[in-house]
Amino acid sequence: MNMVIWNPAWETGITLIDQQHQALLAQFEALLVAIHENHPEDRIQPLLQFLADYVDTHFSMEEGLMQVVGYPGLAGHQAIHDRMRARVGQLLEAAKDNPATLTEEVIDFLTDWLLRHINEEDRRMAQHLQHAEGAWMRDEPGVVP
Ligand SMILES: [Fe+2]
Repeated sequence: MNMVIWNPAWETGITLIDQQHQALLAQFEALLVAIHENHPEDRIQPLLQFLADYVDTHFSMEEGLMQVVGYPGLAGHQAIHDRMRARVGQLLEAAKDNPATLTEEVIDFLTDWLLRHINEEDRRMAQHLQHAEGAWMRDEPGVVP
């Protein structure tokens, strides 16, 4: 089981995004531990459901920020998010039908995907956000639509 320790090099510089990335990785880890320790299905299902909801919340928050500043890469970034939303949704359905489909490898895959996404697409997005003028202002999640 590979545990992920947050690396400050993964920070995008946008506090809200970084906090949510850390929270997402913590969710992956909680799920990984639950699978590794053979927790009963009724404890794993809510974790997985929470993760799926949180993935959607996080992606929607990023998309809101990209929209506010008119980020030119929005459509491409959103398409990547949509593919991952679909993948997590399928995972949730598959695990409901057959809990054995939810393996440590699946969570490792999601973790790797997220770290790559953070370091590539999210970093590009954050650079644009940092240079964008506007009312959204980093560190003020209250003004995010
Ligand atoms: Fe993203």
